[in-house]
Amino acid sequence: MEKVVLVTGVSSGLGKAFATALLQGGFKVVGTVRKQEAVREFEELRPGSAFARVLDVTDAPEQLAVAVAEIEQNVGLVYALINNAGYGHEGTLEESSMDELRQQFEVNVFGAVAMMKAVLPHMRARREGRILNVTSMGGLHVEATIDLVTTVKALAAKSS
Ligand SMILES: NC(=O)c1ccc[n+]([C@@H]2O[C@H](COP(=O)([O-])OP(=O)(O)OC[C@H]3O[C@@H](n4cnc5c(N)ncnc54)[C@H](OP(=O)(O)O)[C@@H]3O)[C@@H](O)[C@H]2O)c1
Repeated sequence: MEKVVLVTGVSSGLGKAFATALLQGGFKVVGTVRKQEAVREFEELRPGSAFARVLDVTDAPEQLAVAVAEIEQNVGLVYALINNAGYGHEGTLEESSMDELRQQFEVNVFGAVAMMKAVLPHMRARREGRILNVTSMGGLHVEATIDLVTTVKALAAKSS
């Protein structure tokens, strides 16, 4: 039976690349997207093995838990989560608003944590599962205009 991997943020970039490689490797992939239009595009990558769900990692934790339960019921048991969704806010600290700073943490840190909290009860019950958190070299190497990303990714790396 194909193992199911849940990948967040598959509309572009690394998430799409992870999903494509996993599909080629024989996994079933449930990819999350934020726009309804992106659902079909993802599922067309490999009909019957690629499934898309509309989800924002900043959705309420209860909503994320329901989304994971629905995937387990309708697609299959989630073997692995790739916490990929995220973005890098650019700007020095003094030119970034508090709202921008909060949003960066909401998505890159708390969003990733919320996804882990949604899959962990299922994985623990089965005593099997894998979680891969996509962080950044920025957690190790600081650059002036992306210092916030660096901090956030360092935090995410340490907490995972
Ligand atoms: N590329 C780099 O150089 C680099 C460097 C360091 C770290 N990273 C990390 O690698 C990961 C992937 O980055 P990428 O370069 O592949 O970027 P990307 O092409 O912009 O892809 C990011 C993905 O995350 C999704 N996303 C963003 N915010 C989200 C949210 N609140 N809820 C759910 N999905 C959300 C995006 O969806 P939409 O299409 O709807 O926006 C998109 O699918 C990120 O975590 C990023 O921080 C990348």
